[in-house]
Amino acid sequence: MELSAVSSSYARWAPIYDKTFGVLTSQGRRRAVDYINGRGGKVLEVGVGTGLSLPSYMDTVEVTGIDYSPEMLEKAVKKHQGKNLSPVKELLQMDARELAFPDNTFDTVAAMHILSVVPEPEKVMAEIARVLKPGGEVIITNHFARDKGFLAFIEKITAPLDNLLGWHSDFEKQRILRQDVLKLKVEKQIPPLGMMTFMVLRKRDA
Ligand SMILES: C[S@@+](CC[C@H](N)C(=O)[O-])C[C@H]1O[C@@H](n2cnc3c(N)ncnc32)[C@H](O)[C@@H]1O
Repeated sequence: MELSAVSSSYARWAPIYDKTFGVLTSQGRRRAVDYINGRGGKVLEVGVGTGLSLPSYMDTVEVTGIDYSPEMLEKAVKKHQGKNLSPVKELLQMDARELAFPDNTFDTVAAMHILSVVPEPEKVMAEIARVLKPGGEVIITNHFARDKGFLAFIEKITAPLDNLLGWHSDFEKQRILRQDVLKLKVEKQIPPLGMMTFMVLRKRDA
């Protein structure tokens, strides 16, 4: 998607996101946050959206969240302020293709339901790899295109609606596996209906 389409699409999604797409994707988000809490350390959540994950972080971690959409981010800020979520350090408006953090900053980077939304996902993955510490991990939950079956057919026919939907329904997994320094460690299909994938990629040690 173009960045202008991300802006307009997520300005529309922001008021209804938590009770619609947010509910559908809750199990993946929960699994990712549990995994991250178990690791501890400094966490960057790329595309934090309305901050649905934020109340689930534990004091083992220190979380920085970024998102491009001011409307989505405003919802996240309200959740943070309303509940005084101590693991959350800061929430910033930023383009995931140009992360304003030094190299090797974070122990973990989370990218939940964002890689099929961003323009230039390869560039976002390169930025994620750059800001991760050696030995750090990227935690991904996302929907990826299927090769066959009825759902693959639905993905293909809805693909031209990406700017309206707010994501690419036929997004190919290979596009996020092109960073030499990141090696796939875990890959699992998760609910609803095994439509989502949970992945862990580990950055090569220094
Ligand atoms: C489907 S939502 C997912 C939000 C959240 N991660 C979740 O699981 O609920 C996708 C988010 O990606 C954000 N996004 C899209 N392109 C971005 C970019 N280039 N930089 C930062 N955020 C971006 C959108 O604004 C939106 O909030």
